[in-house]
Amino acid sequence: MAVSAGQLDAHWMPFTANRDFKKAPRIIASAAGHYYETVDGRRLYDLFSGLWTTGLGHCHPKIVEAVQKQVATLDYAIGFQVSNNRSFELAERVIDLAPPPFSQCFFTNSGSESVDTALKIALAYHRARGEGHRTRLIGRERGYHGVNFGGMSVGGMVPNRKVFSASLLPGVDHIRATCDLEHTAFSRGQPEWGAHLADDLERLAGLHGGDNIAAVIVEPAAGSAGVLPPPVGYLERLREICDRHGILLIFDEVITGFGRVGASFAADYFGVMPDIITTAKGLTNGVIPMGAVIVQSHVYDAFMHGPEATVELFHGYTYSGHPVAAAAGVATLDAYAEEGTFGQAAELAGPFGELLHGFADHDKVIDVRNIGLMGAVELAPREGKPGARGMEVHKRCFWEEDLVVRNGMDTLQFSPFLNAKPDDLEAAIARIRRVVDSID
Ligand SMILES: Cc1ncc(COP(=O)(O)O)c(C=O)c1O
Repeated sequence: MAVSAGQLDAHWMPFTANRDFKKAPRIIASAAGHYYETVDGRRLYDLFSGLWTTGLGHCHPKIVEAVQKQVATLDYAIGFQVSNNRSFELAERVIDLAPPPFSQCFFTNSGSESVDTALKIALAYHRARGEGHRTRLIGRERGYHGVNFGGMSVGGMVPNRKVFSASLLPGVDHIRATCDLEHTAFSRGQPEWGAHLADDLERLAGLHGGDNIAAVIVEPAAGSAGVLPPPVGYLERLREICDRHGILLIFDEVITGFGRVGASFAADYFGVMPDIITTAKGLTNGVIPMGAVIVQSHVYDAFMHGPEATVELFHGYTYSGHPVAAAAGVATLDAYAEEGTFGQAAELAGPFGELLHGFADHDKVIDVRNIGLMGAVELAPREGKPGARGMEVHKRCFWEEDLVVRNGMDTLQFSPFLNAKPDDLEAAIARIRRVVDSID
C-alpha cells in the first residue's frame, strides 16, 4: 500500500533527513528471507539484515509462528512483583548461550535501554558494596551506545552529542578511539597496531583516581561508527587495567551479540570476559523490540543482601520481559541452534572479508574494515561535502541496483545475513562496485 502525502508529512522519522527523504521516499511494505519488497513492488536484497538485527532473514517461519501463538495465549502480563513464564524461559536460554561466568539476565526493550540499565547497575553495584564514591563512567571516542542520556553521555559520536552537550551526564570521560587510518587502514580483521591505546584508561585512572571510576563501556568491535575492530591485545589490556583498579568492564554487544562475529558473543570470540554485557538486536531477530543485560554472578550477588522483601534494584520497564518478545527470543535462539547459524556466520566471515577488501584498489576508497560479518568501506569525502558521496551510493543502490546498503556519512556499512548465500553477496558487492565506479 502506497503512503499518502498526509501520512508522509505526519511521520517524523528517526536518524533521517526528513525533507530530503520525503521528496523520494524509500518505503518497504513486506519482506521474506533475504529480500524486502517496496510499496511499488520492487524486490531489494538487504545487505544490512534489517539494522544489524535480522541475521536469520526476514519473517522466519518459526519466529512468526511463535509470536502468533504467544500473542493469542498471553498478550501481556505485569512484570513487577508478578511475571510471565516466557520471560524466565528466555532468561535461562540466554544464560545458557552466554559464556560460563554469566548468570543473570535483565530484560529491556532496546539497545539504548540495555546500555542505560547496565550503567545504572554498575553504579548501584558499587554502592551496594560500600563503594558509592565510584561514580565516574568512562566511554570511548567514536563509541555508540544508543540515544538515551546515559548512552549518549558515554558515547563518542559527535553529531549525536553536540546539540545536547551541556546536558550530558556529569562525571563522564572518554578514552581514545582505536581507529587511526595512518596505522590501521586496510587491516584485515583486527589491526596489529593499537593495543597501547587501552593505556588511555590508565591515564584517566591517574587523572580521576581509579577508585572513583565505576565502569568502562566499549563495543568490543565498534559498529555504528563504521566497524572498528579492536586492535590485537587491546581488549585484554583494558581488562587488566579494569582489574587493577576495581572498575567494571561493560561490553556493549547490541550488535556483536548473537552471532554477528561468528560466535555467540564477541566476549567469546575475543576470549575477554567483561563483567556486564548489553544486548538487543539479534535477541529476537529484530521481530519484536527487546534487549537484555547479562551480568556475572558477582554483580547480581552484590544486590542480594538486606531484607528479602525489599526491591533490590529500583529499575525496570513496563515491557521488561514482555511475553510476546520473549516468545520471539526463544524461537530465535532455537533457530540459531537448529540451523547452526553462528557456524554459518563464522564460515562466511572469510569470504565476506575478501569481497570487501576487493575495494581496496579503488581510488575513492580510503579504508576497508571487517570482523566477522561486520564490514565497512570508507570512501574519501567530496571536497567540502562530507557524507554526500556515501549518501549518493546508498540512494543509487536503492533505486538502480535494488540493494539496501547503509551509509554512515561516507562509510558504507555491511551487516549481511548470518546465513547469507555467498553467491548473493558476491553479486551484491559487484553491483555496489558498479555504483562506486560511476560516482564522481
Ligand atoms: C552498540 C550499540 N549500542 C546501543 C545501540 C542502541 O540500540 P537501540 O537503537 O535499539 O536503542 C546500538 C544501536 O545501533 C548499538 O549499535
